[in-house]
Amino acid sequence: MNEFVLNHPLITHKLAFLRDINTGTKEFRELVTEISTILVYEAMRDAQLEKTTIETPLEKMETGTLNENNYAIVPILRAGMGMIDGVLNVIPNAKIGHIGLYRNEETFEPVEYYYKMPEGIKNREVLVVDPMLATGGSASATISRLKQDGVTKIKLLCIVAAPQGIETIENDHPDVKIFCATVDRELNENAYILPGLGDAGDRVYGTK
Ligand code: URA
Repeated sequence: MNEFVLNHPLITHKLAFLRDINTGTKEFRELVTEISTILVYEAMRDAQLEKTTIETPLEKMETGTLNENNYAIVPILRAGMGMIDGVLNVIPNAKIGHIGLYRNEETFEPVEYYYKMPEGIKNREVLVVDPMLATGGSASATISRLKQDGVTKIKLLCIVAAPQGIETIENDHPDVKIFCATVDRELNENAYILPGLGDAGDRVYGTK
């Protein structure tokens, strides 16, 4: 199993408000940020620290610090951008790349329309963020594109995942670990996650 699910009563509590149709844009954004921050804590559990010596008011001690320059966040446009602040809350110096994909209506394959990564992307650990992992098509294409650029350390962070999306990533990219807040039941005929929360992009940007 390549996925880690945040099983926690506080997450269920926050997801209840996030999912609720009556939750407004401001609160929705705040909840996405909050849950994203918690996801990053889990995703960074295996982070390598650099040894350092500091001085407390009482004595010297050996400890460790993170080289934040080793990290990049890659939101999948546009809903993924809603998760950036949550990641930056804990890794404020991470660089940010963007990828935009649309679906070819005949082939249903994702087509890239925007791709801009920070310098030296292949040497960074990349956190791909997208709130909804539905079919997994966009996330898988994003990961493939990053691998083409030589990136070897990739993690996928999402808020709501569907079993089909997890399966796609596990099949296409068994080396990529998925961190999500919940795994929902299924996809409907329009590839929306059920019960889900609707269109995450529309809810983050208030476009509906
Ligand atoms: N994208 C969304 O925003 N919501 C879904 O349910 C599936 C994909």
